[in-house]
Amino acid sequence: MKIGVFDSGIGGLTVVKSLLEHKLFEEIVYFGDTARVPYGVKDKNTIIRYAIEAVEFFKNFELDLIIVACNTVSAYALSEMRESASCPVVGVVEAGILATANALSNKHERVLILGTKATVNSKAYETGLNALGYENLQAKATGLFVPIVEEEIYEGEILQATLKHYFSSVAKPDALILGCTHFPLISDVLQGYFGKKCKLIHSGDAIVEYLEKEFVFSQKYEKTQLKFFASENPDALKTIAKKWLNF
Ligand code: DGL
Repeated sequence: MKIGVFDSGIGGLTVVKSLLEHKLFEEIVYFGDTARVPYGVKDKNTIIRYAIEAVEFFKNFELDLIIVACNTVSAYALSEMRESASCPVVGVVEAGILATANALSNKHERVLILGTKATVNSKAYETGLNALGYENLQAKATGLFVPIVEEEIYEGEILQATLKHYFSSVAKPDALILGCTHFPLISDVLQGYFGKKCKLIHSGDAIVEYLEKEFVFSQKYEKTQLKFFASENPDALKTIAKKWLNF
């Protein structure tokens, strides 16, 4: 299987990491729209327009599947992408909703959804979880974590101050949805803040769980061919990919 992974920038590499760990694909073509990141502060129409352009880009490759690693795009543009793509398109929000439901032991447990402003405004996670009977939900836009992670700050004072800024008056959840590509990189710090009992929902793991349920994988690929494309400075993307994915 040859697939495309789309993100607004570099964050989607956290999803690629999970895909590689599970050896699901023969080839992954990654496209990060680094020239126009962040999407999380943009409006719906712009996000949809950029997402359709990404589908057009992927038409240069004969793909079997497109994975939308970006939560913001998954929240707004999945149906439009499906209309213009010639292969299936799956997104991390739907997968994250199912992974959250699987992780919780009852419908009253408290869920805290983190994401960009756009993802939180879309209420995509709440809508999906409500439909499954989960009502004890709170969402918080925590966009400051995006540039912090881009600065490769994964611990320390700045991060602690930001946690305090966002969460000092937030009740501890039973599950925390890392509803943004960048947040898995600070998952240790978030786990430390919210405590060991809090279940963290990671988009990469969620999409693997989802794919293994929806598709048949007849073999594991010990080596996946990786191709990286970016709308700006592809070398910077490749350098970060090498670091994050250890290849
Ligand atoms: N990739 C985005 C997401 O997962 C975060 C960065 C952005 O705002 O574009 O929502």
